[in-house]
Amino acid sequence: MCGIIGAVGRGSDTLDVLVHGLSKLEYRGYDSAGVALASDSIDVCKKAGELDELRTALEGRSVAGSVGIGHTRWSTHGPPTDANAHPHQDCSGDVAVVHNGIIENYQELRDELASAGHTFRSDTDTEVVPHLVEDELRGGADPEAAVRAALSRLEGSYAVAVVIAGVERIFAARNDSPLVLGISDDAYYLASDVPAFRDHTDRVVYMNDGEFAALDAGGWTVTTLDGEPVEKPVDTVDWDPEETGKSGYDHYMLKEIHEQPRSLRQCLSERVDELAGTVDIDDLADLNPRGVQFVACGTSYHAALYGAELFQQAGIPAQAFLASEYASSPPPIGDALVIGVTQSGETADTLSALREADRRGARTLGVTNVVGSTVARECDHVFYIRAGPEIGVAATKTFASQLAALNLLALGMAGGDDTRELIGALRDLPGQVQEVLDESGARAVAETYLESDAYFFIGRGLNFPVALEGALKMKEITYKHAEGFAAGELKHGPLALVTDQTPVFAVVTGDGEQARKTIGNVKEVEARDAPVIAVTDGQSDVERYADHVLRVPETHPRTAAVLANVQLQLVSYHTAAELGRSIDKPRNLAKSVTVE
Ligand code: F6R
Repeated sequence: MCGIIGAVGRGSDTLDVLVHGLSKLEYRGYDSAGVALASDSIDVCKKAGELDELRTALEGRSVAGSVGIGHTRWSTHGPPTDANAHPHQDCSGDVAVVHNGIIENYQELRDELASAGHTFRSDTDTEVVPHLVEDELRGGADPEAAVRAALSRLEGSYAVAVVIAGVERIFAARNDSPLVLGISDDAYYLASDVPAFRDHTDRVVYMNDGEFAALDAGGWTVTTLDGEPVEKPVDTVDWDPEETGKSGYDHYMLKEIHEQPRSLRQCLSERVDELAGTVDIDDLADLNPRGVQFVACGTSYHAALYGAELFQQAGIPAQAFLASEYASSPPPIGDALVIGVTQSGETADTLSALREADRRGARTLGVTNVVGSTVARECDHVFYIRAGPEIGVAATKTFASQLAALNLLALGMAGGDDTRELIGALRDLPGQVQEVLDESGARAVAETYLESDAYFFIGRGLNFPVALEGALKMKEITYKHAEGFAAGELKHGPLALVTDQTPVFAVVTGDGEQARKTIGNVKEVEARDAPVIAVTDGQSDVERYADHVLRVPETHPRTAAVLANVQLQLVSYHTAAELGRSIDKPRNLAKSVTVE
């Protein structure tokens, strides 16, 4: 079982459409994936492994063309290697083919073609198809006739799609393997299954065995393989797998932001005993670390910074390291517990840091969302954050659950002076997140500052990682310049960047020393005419110096950080939505980064 896709009429979006379509077809096989884009020549990119391998490969090279086909493979002929991944090409590289099915007479065809001088690069049955097309083209057939003639030689099952250099069309045919066309006003698709293009159109044409389709930017035709016209009805699909997946939200990211009350409840469930004033983290409580080193990347690193502060507050020396830097300057390990924080549990940098720690004799603990992930399997211990699947590339609900989980770990391993108060705050947290979601003014703030080229975020103590995370979210989904700073650092350089065009989001919760000092920093930016957006629980008077206020309910300082972060998630989301960005799959990024 493999999945095929094709798209024409999408211009420079073509590659994204193919890769996105392949993600919807991964259930059909994930041994390898590949795409071919045709213009005057054909660019092919294909990789063994799951679709993320292809995405990573595509990051490193330019694959261009507005007519494209793609494939996700479940191996039949030949192991799952790069060479056996589809698309397959002819000798000249001018023909590329993706195929689902089994060509039963492939050996005979292959022998025939090989003795005629064709060189084969894979073990697959499919590879005979481009070579057959090539022969027909060499013999003078026009592209469509060449494909028809080549397909007429095949015995077995196929859903096949073919592109040819210099030909702005896709040819496709079906015999015993599923194939459906997607019809929109200005673009046309083909796929093994509707979800591959359902994001782009709900109009479909179901192909029958023995039918041949030709798609170009101007339209589509279906004939028999012999060229007899076939009347095909255009159906409308009345179901929307994406809608179901997104529960009516425009994006997975927004859905996942709104899922935070539930995912936090899941994280906390049966782990806090309010009456007893205790947390239950099973035998992890016995780890009794004398020091903690966190290793993590990106958003998870921000959670790690927050976690390190929690342990420090409990009197246990703790530091957070960027996982990618950990091995190059390894800190003395002593008796430290090394905690890898990773949503996916597959991030190569984090894995490599944990392995380094293991090599040096440390005990390791993985804090992850994915049951059975590599981190979960390799670490000595694991603590699941139970956020549920996160599809949006930008981490949202997993960050909130990481913060909650780290509170549980810090409480369970190190205790604290105000355990009961904190447990109460954790209990209230899901409801308070809901309050923020219901009443947030983030959208209006996003609209006000849509034209800004740079956004700054400041915070102190536990609000410092929130500032970093606010900036990272803004960067990755809006593609705008955004930086997070420890509020006190602003005056040591970054203040030079602050102008009346650079909104500054100041995360100020509580009314203690940290709030007072951050308000001092707010005044510094206000004096430079920067618009100030205060994210605050209203306990301090920061609102006096702010142009806008994003309120969060009053709570414990630790949970206040979680609430403030929700406001910043919403600001980034609405900014990206207004800008029309690809929110769930931002450019250049992948959900699980499996390379160092
Ligand atoms: C940003 C984001 C990334 C990840 C980072 C680590 O929104 O999601 O920065 O946090 O790639 O990924 P995990 O947590 O899977 O190790």
